[in-house]
Amino acid sequence: MLLTSFRIASGCQAVRWLVACSALLLQMNMAFAQLVQLAPDRLALCASCHGTDGNSPIAEHPKLAKLQTSYFVRQMEDFKKGRRKSTVMQGIVAGIDEKEFQAFAVHFNQQNPPTPGKGDPKLLPQGKEIFYEGIVGSAVPACSGCHKDDGTGTNRYPRLAGQHPQYLVQQMLNYKTGARDNDDRGLMRAVAQRMNEAEIRAVAEYIVTMKGDEE
Ligand code: HEC
Ligand code: HEC
Repeated sequence: MLLTSFRIASGCQAVRWLVACSALLLQMNMAFAQLVQLAPDRLALCASCHGTDGNSPIAEHPKLAKLQTSYFVRQMEDFKKGRRKSTVMQGIVAGIDEKEFQAFAVHFNQQNPPTPGKGDPKLLPQGKEIFYEGIVGSAVPACSGCHKDDGTGTNRYPRLAGQHPQYLVQQMLNYKTGARDNDDRGLMRAVAQRMNEAEIRAVAEYIVTMKGDEE
């Protein structure tokens, strides 16, 4: 009797040990994944469109600098699985192993913040109001409520500050029509559906002027 319970107890110890051990291994694995260095030739895959520093000079290509790594990795996974549609990006990720996503994400997250733009001065007051107050009449919530006051975002809500207005407008329209539907619980679709194109344009013109002051 005593012996059996001893055996069970030591069995439990072993199980606990295994659990602790595999948790530790998992952590080590994750730490290792973050340490994977990108060979310079891998960055060449992105450079022509996003710049090696993620400060894309082309309006239709999003600036990637300082994007949250968790958001970045999920977008790459979504392109790979076809959950986010883009002929260009789906073609690119097809040739990249998922294990490399984190390394790309870390690289772009470590770059300087994207250079802000001037924005259309006529639209800035309206855009600023939408960003911080939302649109009361049509129940549009303030963007700052999720993407933070300075637009730098959090682990749950991606950075917007300094992003190209053309890219922002396109994504908002994609959310509005449902062409982009990989947002968790449809949060962004609900926001975009309540906005008209003029309002979307205005807020995008304001966002590009944001420097990300809290960084
Ligand atoms: C030929 C141009 C091109 C190349 C090369 C390219 N991209 Fe893109 N990338 C785009 C476009 C266009 C989009 C916007 C897709 C959309 O319409 O949703 C995009 C979007 C992204 C996004 C989503 C950004 C966001 O804010 O949601 C990530 C992440 C990304 N690219 C990473 C990469 C990485 C990493 C590489 C290199 C391995 C790369 N891209 C190479 C054109 C390119
Ligand atoms: C309730 C929270 C919430 C509010 C309010 C909100 N957003 Fe978002 N937004 C999100 C989430 C979550 C995502 C990421 C979706 C995903 O994971 O694919 C996102 C993503 C985005 C993207 C895509 C970014 C990229 O790099 O592709 C844009 C653009 C955007 N939001 C603009 C806005 C604007 C403009 C407003 C205000 C009118 C706003 N958001 C208000 C939660 C919010």
